[in-house]
Amino acid sequence: MSRIIILDTPNHGGKTVELFGWVHSRRDHGKIIFIDLRDRSGLLQVVFEPKDKDLYKLAEKLRPEFCIKLTGEIKERPASMVNKNIATGTVEMNATKLEILTESKTPPFELDKDTIAVNEETRMKYRYLDLRTERMKNNIILRHKIIKFIRDWLDKEGFLEIHTPMLTKSTPEGARDFIVPSRLHPGKFYALPQSPQQYKQLLMVAGMEKYFQIAPCFRDEDARADRSPGEFYQLDMEMSFVTQEDILQLTEKLFTELVKTILPDRKITKTPWPRITHKEAMEKYKSDKPDLRKDKKDLKELAFAWIVDFPLFKEQTKEDFFHGAGEKWGPSHHMFTAPKEEDIPLLDKDPGKARSYQHDLVLNGYEVGGGSVRIHDPKVQDKIFDLIGFTKEQKREFAHLLEAFEYGVPPHGGIAPGLDRLIMVLAGEPSIREVMAFPKSGDAKDLVIGAPSEVTDEQLDELSIKLALEKE
Ligand code: AMO
Repeated sequence: MSRIIILDTPNHGGKTVELFGWVHSRRDHGKIIFIDLRDRSGLLQVVFEPKDKDLYKLAEKLRPEFCIKLTGEIKERPASMVNKNIATGTVEMNATKLEILTESKTPPFELDKDTIAVNEETRMKYRYLDLRTERMKNNIILRHKIIKFIRDWLDKEGFLEIHTPMLTKSTPEGARDFIVPSRLHPGKFYALPQSPQQYKQLLMVAGMEKYFQIAPCFRDEDARADRSPGEFYQLDMEMSFVTQEDILQLTEKLFTELVKTILPDRKITKTPWPRITHKEAMEKYKSDKPDLRKDKKDLKELAFAWIVDFPLFKEQTKEDFFHGAGEKWGPSHHMFTAPKEEDIPLLDKDPGKARSYQHDLVLNGYEVGGGSVRIHDPKVQDKIFDLIGFTKEQKREFAHLLEAFEYGVPPHGGIAPGLDRLIMVLAGEPSIREVMAFPKSGDAKDLVIGAPSEVTDEQLDELSIKLALEKE
């Protein structure tokens, strides 16, 4: 006999089957023991009767979260006993054999209830238990389905999924870098990518034409409900020979079909999605990510919108971590974003007035994606570097990109929706932590595994690193 999953049990009425799973709950009614058995697919009521003494004695030991193997007959329930609340409510199992595979301590919180109100540190420390709960499991399944849909859809549209390096050099996206010391090159460091921005542009020079990646991104930022203080995932995309219009239309089609297929009960407020200039958004909504839902309490309403015509530059502040901080202009999106052709003359006269080909994707008041048409003229790129105050040395850091552009660079552009943030809104959750399997805590710790942690003196020696701090 081989295992079947719980969701399949209604198709096995009258048959003896084998199930594996966890004890979800136990109820004793008179002499009969009922348990709800749980596997990833669902719940099933299992009955132990006292007539088989050895089996019954073993069943008496069962406690929530014990991991067990069961053999028994699947019986149709009489109509009056059907449980409409669960998918397997028309049947139950009469157990004939029980094996306790592993026992469980009493979990630190109840797993048959929603854990949203449970202390977050405890949930994070015991994330592997939190993920056993219905809502969290469903969020992980939804995330899987969304990513699978995106992969299949983009594949059909002719995109290639290409992995870009994780050990790389800083591409400033407006946050601090995570850096990784190099053992082979003492005193030198890799940076983890804030996004694959430069590589995806180089892939366009390489002739890949349509690229995407479910890309891990690393940014040393403070946590917020919609921001991870460390790592998060982007659906990173780049295309050659496209206009901004092509990028917006493709993205709109992808997410409209995704919602229709995966979340058919959601209502998209307005199609085609409204396009709002940055100026209009600031004047009308006092925000560059307005919430355009008709009913802001409706978790099933999805109000997508595009914000376009952003200023190319913003005043740079000390908090901006672009190279050249302290100079007047910082890029509003990033330094590879193209100015509108008609505004190029303004770069010399009045750069603050120049508008760009940046596009932000907004959903229910969140910025769920950002992108742009890119500069592909080395002269324009050089001018932008000057305006943001790059020194010769800082420019040299990007010489590879400018050099690549000397070899027949195609015009190109793209976008990167933030997957965690997008899935958070689609799932109707209040924080991105609810849709990540192992998120960082508010102070950027992984509480399950205990990261970050100290390393040994030997490791530091090997890396030629001397700590200025005393170890705790
Ligand atoms: P940008 O910096 O706008 O663009 O990032 C794109 C999207 O990524 C998401 N995001 C985050 N999500 C969770 N936690 C974070 N700390 C975090 N930071 C950003 C947001 C954001 O809209 N290379 C460009 C894209 C491009 O130009 O194609 C980029 O990274 O949803």
